[in-house]
Amino acid sequence: MRFTSSLFLVAIASAPRLVDAFVKGINQPWGNNQYGHWLSSSIQGYSAVYSSSDMAATFAAAKDIGAQWVRIWLFEDGQGLTVDGNNYVTGLKSDFETNFNDVLSHAAANGVKVYPTFFNYPPNTSNFPIANFFTDSNAQNALLNNLIKPLIRTYGSNSNIAAWQLYNELNGIANPYFSGYVIDQATAKAWVTSTTAAIKSVNGGAQVSVSQIQINDDYHPVGTSNLDYKGTGVDFYDIHIYSDNGQEIPAASAYNLDKPVYLGEFGELTGEGDSHQNDVIYNFFVAAKAGGWAGAFYWNLGFAGSQPGVCGSDSTIKYTLYNCEGGQRGGYNEFKYS
Ligand SMILES: *[C@@H]1O[C@H](CO)[C@@H](O)[C@H](O)[C@H]1NC(C)=O
Repeated sequence: MRFTSSLFLVAIASAPRLVDAFVKGINQPWGNNQYGHWLSSSIQGYSAVYSSSDMAATFAAAKDIGAQWVRIWLFEDGQGLTVDGNNYVTGLKSDFETNFNDVLSHAAANGVKVYPTFFNYPPNTSNFPIANFFTDSNAQNALLNNLIKPLIRTYGSNSNIAAWQLYNELNGIANPYFSGYVIDQATAKAWVTSTTAAIKSVNGGAQVSVSQIQINDDYHPVGTSNLDYKGTGVDFYDIHIYSDNGQEIPAASAYNLDKPVYLGEFGELTGEGDSHQNDVIYNFFVAAKAGGWAGAFYWNLGFAGSQPGVCGSDSTIKYTLYNCEGGQRGGYNEFKYS
């Protein structure tokens, strides 16, 4: 995501798993619906609004619906980062670790793993005002030495963390297919390679991925258009697909990648009510399991009872398993029994 009926359920509840190791997951990218300032304050000065009870509800729900991994975002727009006069990263604000530890404790209490994503916006912009670590080698070294490596030293062996994702939908800013293209493709690939190597130099067992928006049209076939990060040393690939159907997704092998492929985000393109959401969730899970995907993570859980009325109307809401009143939609159980 770049920004910006029960009878049926009974029938699918007994469907066998087609891929034993398939990982069901859910996205809950920022706590309490506070993009960019939930684990710590933002670089721009928005105060942190971390809520431990919200995270308790998040991970209890993840456990209830059988989500094994919860994907969260860590440093979106510079959240928690400290910088020097050159906007080079110097470290982390003190509350970040406290709150991240609390997230991990809720994950542990529910037997769920966290899948953190580092970044989400091009650097050296007003939205993400740190020096451009893709193009400026001093900025890149500062990022690795002052943030990434210390983070992995502290958390690299934490059994509540499944894997680290370097960037959300990196090809969205680093592949000329997309209008948001601002980083050279080869430069982004080199950054993924060096950052993955840095993580593994600290902890060889730490799992690393990067996510990408699926490219798939008549002129850009899947088998040749999604190879941006092949050969970087990442442990698996993470592709995002939104559709109003979901049964049409390619088999994982169609991407010609050399490691497992996860469907790191999926969901509806348009909000058309609960039964449509149910169909899309069901279709994606069936197709992903049959197609050899390593796992699939729905976008997104949403918040039980915490944002009544803020999302528009229940007939057009999309992306969340809770409705505008904070109640469970049909999709909550659809996910649970898919
Ligand atoms: C950052 O952006 C400014 C323009 O806003 C540009 O002049 C400068 O070269 C950029 N720095 C890097 C390291 O990309």
